[in-house]
Amino acid sequence: MSEMTILGIESSCDDTGAAVLRGGPGTATVLSSVVVGQNELHAPFGGVVPEIAARAHAEKLDGCVIEALDQAGVSLAEIDAIAVTAGPGLIGGVLSGVMCAKGIAVATGKPLIGVNHLAGHALTPRLTDGVTFPYLMLLVSGGHCQFLLVRGPEDFTRLGSTIDDAPGEAFDKTARLLALPQPGGPSVEAEARNGDPKRFPFPRPLLDRPGCDLSFSGLKTALLRQRDAVMLGDALYAKDRADLCAGFQAAVVDVLREKTRRALELYLAEAPAVPTLAVAGGVAANTAIRGALTDLCAGLGVAFTAPPLKLCTDNGAMIAYAGLERFAAGEADDMTLAARPRWPL
Ligand code: KG4
Ligand code: ZN
Repeated sequence: MSEMTILGIESSCDDTGAAVLRGGPGTATVLSSVVVGQNELHAPFGGVVPEIAARAHAEKLDGCVIEALDQAGVSLAEIDAIAVTAGPGLIGGVLSGVMCAKGIAVATGKPLIGVNHLAGHALTPRLTDGVTFPYLMLLVSGGHCQFLLVRGPEDFTRLGSTIDDAPGEAFDKTARLLALPQPGGPSVEAEARNGDPKRFPFPRPLLDRPGCDLSFSGLKTALLRQRDAVMLGDALYAKDRADLCAGFQAAVVDVLREKTRRALELYLAEAPAVPTLAVAGGVAANTAIRGALTDLCAGLGVAFTAPPLKLCTDNGAMIAYAGLERFAAGEADDMTLAARPRWPL
């Protein structure tokens, strides 16, 4: 089968996604991608509430699938396989998606393909840019931070990962400590633009140790201490807030730049045909981080690619694509496919 049409379903965190793809490995086209977020449901609680997320997925999944098929102009009969996130993630949401996909598979008699959510993120550059194996992937989101050497659709080597918080989490906590709106990434980035990155000293965690592991929780502690030192009662001067954001962001940039340099060194030792660094995850939207990585790659003769933001964050298209790669390799699951809250690559 040269051209395949795949339905993808995602529900592992707080976005319900469904998408239809057509094509083959490295040459697929997104016919539709519908994402329904849940920000307003979780906002009052200051974080994702698993039970609320699971209910919202169960409510929205059918509608998302129907909408995705509609927008693609494709009927269920024309779908070749159904791909679904089977983990890792919040178990209630993953279960909702897996049940939905199984229902469609039973009703249509089409193959069911379980996908690792992280593989979905990691393979996205193949969908958006046809990037060839092997490439280096830096996944930086609210929940993840890792370097993956991607040698094939199911061949991932983790070169390093965070030992505590993910960078998005650190941006979100920073925003909370400075009374800035959530999600914290964009608001901290906007503040940082007007700030002096050198005024407050921030650590560069783990740079003094070899390897590609990262750490971000110390930055939050440093921020809290320095904020308290300049705070007047409950009030913080705009200038202090901007300088704190700039100092924090500069530390994140330095850490990511140096750890990426080390990961690239390991990757380049394999003499890849087309050396490529790809980033994915919401934090990849940060202009300062992108700029630093772009410069780093330019200096090393490495191509840099960042999928468009709507395919960088959680969506059904990346799941459909990872499913397409598995399906093209002759793989599929059956009704025993289980939802896995933990599933390292
Ligand atoms: O990939 P994503 O949408 O969700 C998951 O974590 O799966 O990433 C969301 C994270 C949030 O923590 C958000 O604050 C962060 O990405 N983010 C940013 C920026 N835009 C979003 N972090 C830094 N700078 C940004 N411009
Ligand atoms: Zn994700």
